[in-house]
Amino acid sequence: MSNHDIELTINGRRFAGSVEARKTLSDFLRIDAGYTGVHVGCEHGVCGACTVIVDGRAVRSCLMLAVQVNGAEVKTVEGLAAPDGTLHPAQQALRDEHGLQCGFCTPGVLMTMAVLTAGNAKPSEESLLAALSGHICRCTGYQGIRRAVKRLAGENL
Ligand code: FES
Ligand code: FES
Repeated sequence: MSNHDIELTINGRRFAGSVEARKTLSDFLRIDAGYTGVHVGCEHGVCGACTVIVDGRAVRSCLMLAVQVNGAEVKTVEGLAAPDGTLHPAQQALRDEHGLQCGFCTPGVLMTMAVLTAGNAKPSEESLLAALSGHICRCTGYQGIRRAVKRLAGENL
């Protein structure tokens, strides 16, 4: 099977690879590029755990092919905190409000929150919760996540 050469930016770093046309973006990021913060749960677009940011938009990386991100800018949870380690406001909010237990859903939740608050956007609590309805968490009962969203909305309003 022939491979395709791709070149992209992941978390600010150039990355070049050679991938089969059928390889998903999630497998590429985890296996080829080593960004195992990309979690794979359902592998069919339901759970949201694999969410990453591609050219500023939150996407489910299990539903995208690696060849589709040729030339794109991709951000994973590993690239969310500032270079000096300062947590992204979404990370800080989840931490402060105990919005995670096992952490499996957390990277996807964070990437969606990060997109909605990018550029100091001021999303309402309702719009944040609506976006997060696409993320399944099997541990928290969502209460901590809801509190984190409230805090994040409050910080941005
Ligand atoms: S692993 Fe992609 S949505 Fe569940
Ligand atoms: S914290 Fe375990 S799945 Fe959400």
